[in-house]
Amino acid sequence: GSEALECAIKTARRYQFVNGHPERFRVITFEGAFHGRTLATIAAGGQYKYLEGFGPKVEGFDQVGFDDIDAAEKAITPETAAILIEPVQGEGGIRPVPTQSLKRLRQLCEQHGLLLIFDEVQCGIGRTGKLFAHEWSGVTPDIMAIAKGIGGGFPMGACLATDEAAVGMTAGVHGTTFGGNPLAMAVGNAVLDVVLEDGFLEDVQRKALLMKQGLASVADEFPEIIEDIRGAGLMLGLKCAMPNTKVNMALRDQNLLAVPAGDNVIRLLPPLTVTDAEIHEALNRIRAGAKGLAEAIASAAAK
Ligand SMILES: Cc1ncc(COP(=O)(O)O)c(C=O)c1O
Repeated sequence: GSEALECAIKTARRYQFVNGHPERFRVITFEGAFHGRTLATIAAGGQYKYLEGFGPKVEGFDQVGFDDIDAAEKAITPETAAILIEPVQGEGGIRPVPTQSLKRLRQLCEQHGLLLIFDEVQCGIGRTGKLFAHEWSGVTPDIMAIAKGIGGGFPMGACLATDEAAVGMTAGVHGTTFGGNPLAMAVGNAVLDVVLEDGFLEDVQRKALLMKQGLASVADEFPEIIEDIRGAGLMLGLKCAMPNTKVNMALRDQNLLAVPAGDNVIRLLPPLTVTDAEIHEALNRIRAGAKGLAEAIASAAAK
């Protein structure tokens, strides 16, 4: 994923360079973003916890508040090359970016000669019930990074770009020894064979609804534990009413692995091939975890 983002950032800078704007190298990013752990991508993400101890932050990234499009507009300078955003923020707390905001970013890019880069490493390849999360908005990027899902468990990433955006990336400009290796490409093709099968994405949407409704009923039952359900498709977040790490441990005690995220959220990212029975099983375990926490809170209050 990080390497795909590195390629995306290089592609944007190089586009500006070959179009006579070598001064345009800066990229605008958003608070809560996660773009990887290489030196450039920790600078892009801008989170102190990932930057700490790794020397000076790589130059060229300007961060504005999450979904603050006015601030993004103000941050554009003659040195700006691109705007980089996750259409659904993953690590930041499963926060979908409103369609209207993505549309405005697209317009800003057109107005100012910038490239729009989508990081679909987490939200892409069927995760939200469309092949790419940005399809829900109808807004298309100039450059897009994908990874995670495209490998179906095997490490692989890719950087996609329009012909125009990729104009600077000529032979020899970028590469890596194992880039495009036949095994990873065969895996990616196999994943696409499944994800693009008739009905697969519709079934992801159906299962996502089943899961979201089930989670909503758990949240209704235990509002002192789960405040809200958010997300898109099978990229779901439990906004916790108590520390998310405690909720995560309670789920772990139920032998259910989830991941904490920013904004006090627990991330649920089941395999897209999850069955209805497995979803019901997961919901039972989440309910049991929430019940255990609610009982502990009630008995502590009674003391
Ligand atoms: C949105 C996003 N971008 C980039 C990355 C980095 O991917 P990788 O860990 O494969 O380098 C991640 C990983 O969690 C991610 O969620």
